[in-house]
Amino acid sequence: MKAIIVTDRTAGIAGMRLVDRPDPDVARLASLDGASYGDVVVEVHASGFTGNELDWPSTWTDREGRDRSPTIPGHEVAGVVTALSYGAAGLAVGQRVFGLTDWTRDGSLAEYAVVEARNLAPLAGDVDFVTGAGVAMTGLTAWQGLFEHGRLTAGQTVLVHGVAGAVGSMAAQLARDAGAYVVGTGRASHRLAALDFGANEFLDLENDDLDDAAGVDLVFDVFGGDIGRRSVALVRPGGTFVTVAGPPEGRPTDARSVDFVVVSDRAQLTEIAHRVRTGRVRPHIGRVAELADAASALDPATRAPGKTVIRIRP
Ligand SMILES: NC(=O)c1ccc[n+]([C@@H]2O[C@H](COP(=O)([O-])OP(=O)(O)OC[C@H]3O[C@@H](n4cnc5c(N)ncnc54)[C@H](OP(=O)(O)O)[C@@H]3O)[C@@H](O)[C@H]2O)c1
Repeated sequence: MKAIIVTDRTAGIAGMRLVDRPDPDVARLASLDGASYGDVVVEVHASGFTGNELDWPSTWTDREGRDRSPTIPGHEVAGVVTALSYGAAGLAVGQRVFGLTDWTRDGSLAEYAVVEARNLAPLAGDVDFVTGAGVAMTGLTAWQGLFEHGRLTAGQTVLVHGVAGAVGSMAAQLARDAGAYVVGTGRASHRLAALDFGANEFLDLENDDLDDAAGVDLVFDVFGGDIGRRSVALVRPGGTFVTVAGPPEGRPTDARSVDFVVVSDRAQLTEIAHRVRTGRVRPHIGRVAELADAASALDPATRAPGKTVIRIRP
C-alpha cells in the first residue's frame, strides 16, 4: 500500500516521505494467535493530521518506550472496514466508519490502517469521508472539553480561544447548539469567521483587553503559554478552566482546572455525526489534498486555515 512515513524526529513535516509499505496482515488479524484482538482493517478514504503530531512521544515510541519508526502519522480517519479480528465489536465488513487511530500505532496517512474497533463509529452514508475525517479529532476535542471536562450547561458563558481554528470553530458551534453563550477569541482578521461559527461575541487578542472577558463559567483554551496563563484568572469562582495545550502554568482560585488529551469515543462520535448530518454543526475543513501532496499541504508555514484533510481515495 502507499503510505506516508516519518523516520527523523528532527526533520518535521519536511521528513514525510511517500513509500510502499506492506498491506495489513489480514490472516494474522483474524487469527487468535495474533495480538490483534479488537482490531479492524480500515480502507482509508480520508485522513487528518494534528499540527504537532510529530512532537508527540507516541509518534516515535510504542507503549513500552521502544522506537517504532518508521511511523505512519495521521490519527484521524474515515473509511470502510475491510477485515475484522476476534473481539472487534459493533462493526461489520463493508461498514463506513470514522474516528481516531491509536496514538502508539501506525496512523491513517496510508491506503489502509489497523485500528481498534472501539475507537471507531459508524459514519452515515450521507456524510462524506472528508467531513468524517475532518470532524473526528476536532469534534471529540471540543465535545470533551466543553461537556465532559468543562461540564458546560445551557445558559452558561464559555470563552473559546482560537475560535476560527479547527477545534475552536467546532467548540463554538457545539456550545451554541447546547444553549451556551460563546465569547470567541482570535486574531483581528478572524472576527467574521468567529461570528459565522456561532460566537455571540468576538474578542480580538491583538487589540482588545482579554481581561474584559473575566467572570466566564468556562474557558476552553487551545493556546497555553501567556494567553493560557492569563486566561486562568478569567474563570468565575466555581467555574472551570479547560486546556488542550498541556498543563497550565497557574490554577484558578476557587475553580476547577483540567488539561486533557482527547480520546476516541464511539457514543460521542455518533452524537457529533448526528449534529453534522442535521446541519447543527459544520466542520471547518481547510485544504483537501492528495496523499502525494500531504507534506506540502500540512506544512504549518503554508497551510490553509481550518482542518487540512488528505483524501486517500476519490
Ligand atoms: N490535547 C488534545 O487532545 C488536542 C486535540 C486537538 C488539538 N489540540 C491542540 O489544539 C491546538 C489547536 O488545534 P487546531 O487544530 O484548532 O489548530 P488551528 O486550526 O491552527 O486553530 C488555531 C487558531 O488559533 C489562532 N491563533 C493561533 N495563535 C494565535 C494568537 N496568538 N492569537 C490569536 N489567534 C491565534 C489560529 O490562527 P492562525 O491560523 O492565523 O495562526 C487559528 O485560527 C493545537 O495546538 C493542537 O495541537 C490538542
